[in-house]
Amino acid sequence: MEIRKVVIPVAGWGTRSIPASKNIPKEMLPIYDKPVIQYVVEEAVMAGIRDVVFVTSQNKKLVEDHFDYNPQLEAVLERAGKTALLEKVHHVAEMITVMSVRQKRQLGLGHAVLCARGIVGHDDAFAATVGDDLMFGGDAGLPQLVETARKHNLPCIGVMEVPADKVNRYGIAMGKEIEPGLFRVENLVEKPAVGTVDSRLAIVGRYVLTPDIFDHLEKVKPGVGGEIQLTDALAMLARERGMLAVKMHGIRFDAGDWVDYLAANVYFGLRDPKIHDELQRRIRELLNN
Ligand code: UTP
Repeated sequence: MEIRKVVIPVAGWGTRSIPASKNIPKEMLPIYDKPVIQYVVEEAVMAGIRDVVFVTSQNKKLVEDHFDYNPQLEAVLERAGKTALLEKVHHVAEMITVMSVRQKRQLGLGHAVLCARGIVGHDDAFAATVGDDLMFGGDAGLPQLVETARKHNLPCIGVMEVPADKVNRYGIAMGKEIEPGLFRVENLVEKPAVGTVDSRLAIVGRYVLTPDIFDHLEKVKPGVGGEIQLTDALAMLARERGMLAVKMHGIRFDAGDWVDYLAANVYFGLRDPKIHDELQRRIRELLNN
């Protein structure tokens, strides 16, 4: 299974992050010293994917710009002899090949993925990941998923177990465990009411899909929240082609959720030896206040 491209929808309104996201895309909000989207893209690069298709909207130009050169800034850094910073700027500009397509109306994640149909084409499988969700620890996230998809030659989705009283916040996968942490998907439901499903396997925004997903997306009627739900098309794909759900390793942060966003900042700050001790001291001070 060839997987060369990743589709990253970044066209949403980010209403949970207002007012921070009023004029800045929520995918560009910083987590420690990098914007959210850079972590997402680095995960794809770790999976060996460098062709990135951003699904964008009118005010998301900054997302594409972040992965491009900035000649003025580079000239300033060069003149000042700040070579380490210059290298950092170049590294980001050279990280990926950027392609983009507009989602002209924000009709949901499924619709956003469908917008990428023309760029993805109908020959190869592709990865998809939401633009506001970070995963860390070993091969967690797309590398883990891509490896499983290649091995089994089937579409795969990333899942994590959530508490039974939180299933109504996620797409939930149901299926049989065929190896530890690997499930053959039998059905998928978007945001089921608490108590109506046995499974606690929540879809966490990581996918390897085959191009027939686009035909299914064309057929999906607006579902929960009036949106074209990717989960509904995934359920059709699972029935017709088969699909695996892979329990993701690692820690996950949903950058659209303030507690996760702030926790991610602390996590990455504490991982940097340059600021670890000072940050830990400040956190202790704040906790004792
Ligand atoms: P979310 O539902 O988390 O993002 O979608 P949102 O709609 O922007 O945020 P809230 O819920 O209002 O705060 C996950 C990802 O899918 C993109 C978002 O930009 C985000 O990266 N998305 C969502 C689209 O590209 N198009 C859509 O129509 C919806």
